[in-house]
Amino acid sequence: MRSDPGGGAGTDWEAWHDDYADPASALSARLAVVRSEIGAALDRWATTGRDRPMTVLSACAGDGRDILGVLAERKERLPGAVDPVEVALLETDRRNLARAERFCAEAGLTGVRLLDRDAGRSSSYLDAAPADLVLMCGVFGNLTDTDVRRLVGFLPALCRPGATLIWTRSRRAPDLTPAIRGWLADTGFTELSFTAPAEVLGSVGANRFDGEPVPLVPDQQLFRFTR
Ligand SMILES: C[S@@+](CC[C@H](N)C(=O)[O-])C[C@H]1O[C@@H](n2cnc3c(N)ncnc32)[C@H](O)[C@@H]1O
Repeated sequence: MRSDPGGGAGTDWEAWHDDYADPASALSARLAVVRSEIGAALDRWATTGRDRPMTVLSACAGDGRDILGVLAERKERLPGAVDPVEVALLETDRRNLARAERFCAEAGLTGVRLLDRDAGRSSSYLDAAPADLVLMCGVFGNLTDTDVRRLVGFLPALCRPGATLIWTRSRRAPDLTPAIRGWLADTGFTELSFTAPAEVLGSVGANRFDGEPVPLVPDQQLFRFTR
């Protein structure tokens, strides 16, 4: 059962996660890169000396295994020494939210808000943005090019100054990643890394928001999933 006002009707978004069970899958390879970039963002935050929790926002978060996996691993490896993090996961499939909830309970993660909200509506982010780390993983590849462009233009409203943005997109032809990288640069995002291994079509970008803060305008339609 889906509760997905912003998405198409054709994809089972819980079953979509099944490829993660195969450590040799392209999805697992992508997850490893995303988690590595999340770890780097957490490490950068730790050097800023700020006296508040780092805030994380994940749009179309699925079961949240990217950020939640990193936080759980660090909690396990560095008990008592992990900086506080506040996480907001926006996701419309309640089964995926339930999986995230179970994971948090089992790992003892606190400070995670599981939000059953349409990430394609700007108002959905009002109490979750701006954030220090913004995840747009598995999003751009499900949108029309026009919606990707519009969403990139909206990203400054989601980001605190110096925030890290992590995004993914397949390079299947016609490859939109050169355009996305250019749009991000034009929108105030400095590229930190762009990982695109030759043997897979997937790619992962990490960018720092160096632009001017932008107010979040509510009641905008940003995107709808195409499938
Ligand atoms: C391709 S999956 C990516 C999941 C996760 N970010 C990852 O990379 O593992 C896309 C997710 O977006 C969710 N979704 C689709 N349309 C949405 C919308 N309008 N608002 C919030 N979530 C949505 C789906 O339920 C699905 O879990």
